[in-house]
Amino acid sequence: MAAQISPKVIIHGGAGSSLKGKGGVEAVRRSLYQVVEEVYGLLQAGATAQMAVVRGCQLLENDPRFNAGTGSVLQSDGQIRMSAALMDGTAQRFSGVINTARVKNPIELAQFLQTSDDRILSDLGAAELLRELQVPLYDPTTELRLQEWMQERAGNFNKTMAGVVAEQELVKEAGRGTIGVVVLDQQGHIAAGTSTGGKGFERIGRVSDSAMPAGNYATTQAGVSCTGIGEDIIDECLAAKIVIRVTDGLSLLGAFERSIQEARANKRDLGAIGLDATGAIAWGKTSEVLLAAYHTGETIGDTLTMPEASGVLSI
Ligand code: GLY
Repeated sequence: MAAQISPKVIIHGGAGSSLKGKGGVEAVRRSLYQVVEEVYGLLQAGATAQMAVVRGCQLLENDPRFNAGTGSVLQSDGQIRMSAALMDGTAQRFSGVINTARVKNPIELAQFLQTSDDRILSDLGAAELLRELQVPLYDPTTELRLQEWMQERAGNFNKTMAGVVAEQELVKEAGRGTIGVVVLDQQGHIAAGTSTGGKGFERIGRVSDSAMPAGNYATTQAGVSCTGIGEDIIDECLAAKIVIRVTDGLSLLGAFERSIQEARANKRDLGAIGLDATGAIAWGKTSEVLLAAYHTGETIGDTLTMPEASGVLSI
């Protein structure tokens, strides 16, 4: 029997400008730590990488603080449309939904589509799938996100995006919300999942990076989930670029550093988390703050107050 590998987990709840006030940082940290602890526990109990990623994404989607599932931002017309993707690194198989509505956990649709012939569905197709699966209708709108949209409507939508974290004192800050989970399971398998409500206040039909390999990608060698301005992530093809650099022989940290440097030179606004098959965990950002937390098996930590542009957390 093959030796068991020590599982690893890294998650994010978005990226953006600084979280003002200690209350903001501590509240986000608590939320993220609860999720990494539960996901790590599942992996220790033998869950597959794919199962653990889906559970982590569900938990983050269910937390109204983050811009995915419940608490998603509203688009320019006051509607919520969400996107999510799941990539199984072992099968090297991507699945996802784009601009789905009235569903609690978009990541569950991505999971269902992993074994389907048609693996990425957009709005109408996703709605038809929800009907076929008899998934109950769900309204992910929260009062804070509605207030945020009403303020923006009063100002004729001058802001280019919504707040990264939905909290009274933080909601006014520019941010780029998304959630993501990347894990290495005991069998050495990697999976990555990403889910988002989008940028907020965008045009109807705008497509997020989260349900593209630019925003969420994994192979047998590495997995990455991105956050930030979708258009910037797509232009860098960030998740796929980092993973392929690792697959081609660069270290995980080297792949993050080179890709973040390029993104910075191109004035992008983004962040990414990832891990590789050796158990290294890494993160990188061009934005001021990346809301990421990790569990190495020995330590739980986060990047909430890290000033560096990128780092490696465990090998
Ligand atoms: N990264 C999320 C979005 O731009 O939609």
